[in-house]
Amino acid sequence: MVKQMVSEEELKKVLKELRAEGNLARVEKEIRPFLRDVDPETLSLVEQELMEEEGFDLEDLRNLCGIHLRAIDIKREEHELDEDHPISILKAEHEIILDNLNALERIAKKIKSNISLDQFNDELKRLELVAALLLEAESHHQREERALFPRLEEHGIIGPPNVMRIEHEDLRARKRVLKKLLDERDEYDQNYLTNKILELCNHIILTLRDHIYKENNILYPLALRVIPENEWKNIREEFDVIGYCCFTPKAKVRGEHHC
Ligand SMILES: [Fe+2]
Ligand SMILES: [Fe+2]
Repeated sequence: MVKQMVSEEELKKVLKELRAEGNLARVEKEIRPFLRDVDPETLSLVEQELMEEEGFDLEDLRNLCGIHLRAIDIKREEHELDEDHPISILKAEHEIILDNLNALERIAKKIKSNISLDQFNDELKRLELVAALLLEAESHHQREERALFPRLEEHGIIGPPNVMRIEHEDLRARKRVLKKLLDERDEYDQNYLTNKILELCNHIILTLRDHIYKENNILYPLALRVIPENEWKNIREEFDVIGYCCFTPKAKVRGEHHC
């Protein structure tokens, strides 16, 4: 357990003063020492109060979340989880999504280099497969939004699930634009497609990697702390009803693999 050395009041005061100076990311150096000794629950509580009472917005929250991650020692106690625990399933899916993002990055690099039209078309075919797998991750996000986040909210954690929902929405929209662009690629020239694809891929790669990092290192450990043992069984049942991705490791979900 991280030793709490900064009180809620002290943290709130510092954050308010620093925000008055402008964008929180810009004053990261000054905030860091205060965030280093704050555990995620305290930060989450303070964030909620700052949003409700001081007009902090989601961008402020996103900045704080990133600064907190960089400030704390994220080597926290590892929970021993069963293979088929909802968090084990989500984390295993994250690994596969990250592999897809690596594939996306390789394709983006290829497209950016000076390649022939034939090579370009081959890369677009590869991209189509990766884009389909990224869209297939929708049930992962649905399980988080419909089964996990409401539980966190019931236990008083409001800010972080909100930020995650906004990021899901943003990523969902970009993935759809990418798919549409690929479906209609015959209508555009190589130059136009290259620019559009690179813009979309770069955004998806950066945002989704960062999103997964925050879930693995803040949101999930927080969920394991605040959601009592007996509620996880219900969450798992809701997961089974919502369904899994084609790439969800079968060993984790046994007979409940519908996609
Ligand atoms: Fe998520
Ligand atoms: Fe996730």
